[in-house]
Amino acid sequence: MNITKKLNHLDLKLIAIIKRIGRFADKHNIRAFLVGGFVRDIFLKIKNFDIDIAVDKQGINFAQFLSKKLNLKIISHQRFGTAILSLGNLKVDIATLRKEAYPYPGSLPVVREGSLADDLARRDFSVNALAVGINKDDFGMVFDHFNGLADIEHKDLRVLHDKSFLDDPTRILRLVRFAARFNFSIETKTLNLLKQARLAGALENMQKQRVREELFLIFEELEPEKAIKLLDKLYGLKFIHKNLRLAAADYQRSVKVREVCDWFEREFYSRRKIDIWLMYFIVFLSGLEVDELEAICKDFVLKRGESIRLLSFKRSQDIFKKLNKASLKPSEVYNILNPLSYEVILLFFAEIKNKQARRHIINFFKRYNLTRIKLTGNDLKKLGVRPGPRFKELLGLMFKQKLNSRLLTKYQELSALKRLIR
Ligand code: CTP
Repeated sequence: MNITKKLNHLDLKLIAIIKRIGRFADKHNIRAFLVGGFVRDIFLKIKNFDIDIAVDKQGINFAQFLSKKLNLKIISHQRFGTAILSLGNLKVDIATLRKEAYPYPGSLPVVREGSLADDLARRDFSVNALAVGINKDDFGMVFDHFNGLADIEHKDLRVLHDKSFLDDPTRILRLVRFAARFNFSIETKTLNLLKQARLAGALENMQKQRVREELFLIFEELEPEKAIKLLDKLYGLKFIHKNLRLAAADYQRSVKVREVCDWFEREFYSRRKIDIWLMYFIVFLSGLEVDELEAICKDFVLKRGESIRLLSFKRSQDIFKKLNKASLKPSEVYNILNPLSYEVILLFFAEIKNKQARRHIINFFKRYNLTRIKLTGNDLKKLGVRPGPRFKELLGLMFKQKLNSRLLTKYQELSALKRLIR
């Protein structure tokens, strides 16, 4: 089968770069193939700007030459002979064709150079084990050693061999992620192998740190609750924490998370980007106790900022009560919300029903959070205040006044400051 026509229908920027890579490979006597998710998505007619390329030798050198020739930024990982090039929203992954062996279940693979057949055979699912030639003599030629095309057509996910999940248990997470994303079924034998992996405790026996990346990729999906629900059904969630249990209402909360994030991005598009994946993660774990969450932070080796946000949502549950008062002054609302991250505040916003409390949060985002005093230390010095604790105290009081009395101009601030000093 040859899909040159399909390739020519890709985004202009994509096909131009693929052709240039192919020509460049010809010149250096290298065989190059499109592989992995990029090929799968061509057949699924899904836009994908992450091009996966495999070459038969010297992937890193090839990537280095290519980056100079095409003016692409290079980020390389020598370890598996792979390199990533980037150009705006486009990413090109270059790898040398390889064979993998797993010394023991769940270990990191030992990697050697291999043939195209080896490289396709080491992959997770048949739909991800397709290759397309991009050299001149086989441009557009599809290499389908594992009947991936038929599986794409039948919307089936199928592993390539019986030890697949035991070799690399993170594939269990990839399985539910792809099944949910593409609305694919799981082939019967694959389902049985998954059950065996569950009985063997494949994910539980793995270092949680190594599971983290694939788990977080689930939360980066558009509707992660679908994959999590499937994961719960087919494998269970105890590998995250033994006490983690989810009910129908927890999946509903994920829809709310999406709604508040959409709202935030519409209203406040110039603010920093929200880590929505972390919000989903926090929501799904919110039934656990603080010490259980602390254990997760440690086991999964979460980054400091991630741990802080995860724990602060649980630790600040009294916010519902605190914000329910109509009589709160802006500075009081500010003091309640400012220590929290946008993600955590939005999680509360998703759940708070009380109208007054909702208004406080909207005001925080719209006004209080943007409030800055115009006066500087120099203005204080000019009025005879010497740097020290009093200095800080005055600036704090000024800020409070600015929030509560809506001082707009620097002149208004100055008058207020003078009154404070007096
Ligand atoms: N792969 C694998 N086993 C893994 C991870 C990756 O076999 N545990 C292979 C698959 O063939 C996959 C390719 O490496 O298609 C690229 O991996 P990745 O970029 O993670 O997956 P994509 O399929 O591109 O997924 P996505 O669409 O989510 O980017």
